Amino acid sequence: RWAAATGDRRLVMASPRSFCAGVERAIRIVDSLLQTRQAPVYVRKQIVHNSRVVHGLEGRGAVFVDELAEVPDGATVVFSAHGVAPAVRADAALRGLDVVDATCPLVAKVHTEAKRFVRDGHTVLLIGHAGHEEVEGTLGEEPADTVLVQSVHDAERVQVRDPERVAYLMQTTLAADEAADVVSVLRERFPSLRGPDSDDICYATTNRQHAVRAVARQSDLVLVAGSENSSNSRRLVEVAQREGTEAHLVDDAGQVSLDWLARARTIGISAGASAPAEVVDEIVAALGALGRIRIDTHETTTEKINFTLPKEVRQQ
Ligand code: F3S
Repeated sequence: RWAAATGDRRLVMASPRSFCAGVERAIRIVDSLLQTRQAPVYVRKQIVHNSRVVHGLEGRGAVFVDELAEVPDGATVVFSAHGVAPAVRADAALRGLDVVDATCPLVAKVHTEAKRFVRDGHTVLLIGHAGHEEVEGTLGEEPADTVLVQSVHDAERVQVRDPERVAYLMQTTLAADEAADVVSVLRERFPSLRGPDSDDICYATTNRQHAVRAVARQSDLVLVAGSENSSNSRRLVEVAQREGTEAHLVDDAGQVSLDWLARARTIGISAGASAPAEVVDEIVAALGALGRIRIDTHETTTEKINFTLPKEVRQQ
């Protein structure tokens, strides 16, 4: 297997890939609190969906918990980039916890839209994946007036109180083409359907999907760095596969199977918005150990987005 996997290769690096502005901001928040507050700093849920990031921060004193009940009174707790339901905020306030919110501003925007549509008398159809933390947070904003729509199948069947007053919103990390299919079914069923002013699928998701699609078209195999529970990383694998290219999600270089490499002379490489660049570097190094590599970058756009840090961190 080793012999079959060796050989010279061309690597095509999708650009943009790896960290988005929301992930950078969330990691910097925890990082800065670890330097300035008394340990431990608690984080509710994984700060971003990546095992390398979580283990790295854990090693430096962050304590990841699933629920606020696990956080002692008076302690500092960070809310993850995926956002939280208002009930969680209320619980934290009641407990007197020192909250620092790392919710991505683009997720917060979807929460605001949900409140606005419901205030205007609409039922909100939230397109997203059940159980994902971002979806749970957004659903929690207006639970009585929000219905989750996971697929075209759901869109064909969903029932609403008043078909004249319906709006849709989206999870920020969906596959753009799949989400568009769902919206078109909804629009057919509810002609007065309203939607967000600007797309809920965020710039980082969109850009990474475009880049990986372009790279998949010229590759025998696509490797996407990212963790299993990362929605946007998994979508990148699916986008590449829809181009007819074999594609796999790998949490680290050790997960790259020699069997995948046997027939692959051109390998496309991307990374989810929560996957650190160092994982990509390790994958490239591992491929470099199997033969000579030529590295090309396929850049579909450049990103210049930055989010300001919350005041609790800025003032320190
Ligand atoms: Fe935010 Fe999009 Fe990243 S919603 S956390 S910028 S993937």
